[in-house]
Amino acid sequence: MQLIFATNNKHKLEEISALLKGYAHVKGLKEIGIHEEIPENCDTLEGNAVEKAMYIFSKYGYNCFADDTGLEIEALNGRPGVYSARYAGTGCSFDDNVNKILAELGNEKNRRAKFRTVIAMVENGQVKTFEGEVHGIIIEEKKGSDGFGYDPVFVPDGYEITFAEMSLDIKNKISHRAMAMQKFVRYLQNHTK
Ligand code: IMP
Repeated sequence: MQLIFATNNKHKLEEISALLKGYAHVKGLKEIGIHEEIPENCDTLEGNAVEKAMYIFSKYGYNCFADDTGLEIEALNGRPGVYSARYAGTGCSFDDNVNKILAELGNEKNRRAKFRTVIAMVENGQVKTFEGEVHGIIIEEKKGSDGFGYDPVFVPDGYEITFAEMSLDIKNKISHRAMAMQKFVRYLQNHTK
């Protein structure tokens, strides 16, 4: 089975290709000659993931999957959520985003948050979604230099270090993306037997 992953993120592509080896042959957008910007106009993670996968299916006729991730902070009513990538404005850095959530939280006692990933798969026009979450807290100061995004301020439940202090090996076992991918891979494994 050939599947298109609606992404240009090489790292994500390698990760999922390895997981799906033997079940599906995964290709990224560049590999099939699609270089255009894929629309992402929804105000939910589910909406965006479905929109991206459906766009490729409708326009190019490929079975396709796409993902969308956000950090949802309880005391900020679920923000930055679907706006995680550009929370501090167009062209902002990861650091700008982290500084913005720390400023918004201030001395807030409730630091509970979760990362959530939704994967949407469109197969012959039918949509299926798979979701993964990791719960934790937002600490007051950045710690660690690995990872990306909000990693330096996120401490997952059951650990005393941030995602940015953790080896990629461990992060990849417990993360939101890993959980969503596992469900997706299990589905494909059963489905493509
Ligand atoms: P995307 O949907 O995977 O592109 O993620 C959107 C945004 O969420 C990214 O630009 C990051 O700011 C944030 N994000 C996603 N995954 C992670 C993660 O594993 N650690 C920290 N931040 C993340």
